[in-house]
Amino acid sequence: MRVGVFDSGVGGLSVVKSLLEHHLFEEIIYFGDTARVPYGVKDQNTIIRYSLEAIEFFKNFEIDLLITACNTVSAYALDEMRLQSDHDVIGVVDPGVLALKNAIPDPDANILILGTKATVKSGAYTKGLNSLGYHNLSAIATGLLVPIVEEGLYEGEVLQSTLHHYFGNLTKAPDAIILGCTHFPLIANAIESYFEGKSTLIHSGEAIVEYLEAHYDFTKRFEKTELKFFASENPEGLRRTAKEWLQL
Ligand code: DGL
Repeated sequence: MRVGVFDSGVGGLSVVKSLLEHHLFEEIIYFGDTARVPYGVKDQNTIIRYSLEAIEFFKNFEIDLLITACNTVSAYALDEMRLQSDHDVIGVVDPGVLALKNAIPDPDANILILGTKATVKSGAYTKGLNSLGYHNLSAIATGLLVPIVEEGLYEGEVLQSTLHHYFGNLTKAPDAIILGCTHFPLIANAIESYFEGKSTLIHSGEAIVEYLEAHYDFTKRFEKTELKFFASENPEGLRRTAKEWLQL
């Protein structure tokens, strides 16, 4: 199976990493809209327009499935993207909700959702979790973490003070934290340590693998996956980041 993976920037590479670890696809074509990242501060119409342009980009390739490895896009544009596509389009929000349910079945669990401003505003995770009976939810828009990850600051003072800025008021560690932005797995260790390892972290990449394995037939696994990386600006930069993150 050939899959397209779309994100606003480099964050979706964290999803590609999980796909590669599970040898699911013969070919992965990645497109990061690096010229226009971040999407998380934009309004719904803009997010939908940009996402439909990504659909046009993927029409240059024969893909069997498109994964929107961006929570912001998944929260706003999936319906419109599906209408413009002749293959399946899956997002990361529903798989994230299901992964949370598999990891922490207790509906009384205290769950913290992290995401961009747009993702938090959409209420997509909250609605999904509420429908499964989870009610002890809070959400924080942690948009500053996006440029921090893009800058490669996976540890150190800037990251620590930003975590403190967002989490300093919390009185106790959540039972689970949804990393509702595909940039955040890159700083998962720092978030985990901040909460002294007391919180279970839900990662879009692992969640989508769980979802794919439950919904598609992957009896055939691929030892080698062909990878193609494209970006709307500075594709060389994106390929460099891919090499580093994916250890290519
Ligand atoms: N990677 C995007 C997401 O998962 C966030 C980055 C952005 O704001 O574009 O929501």
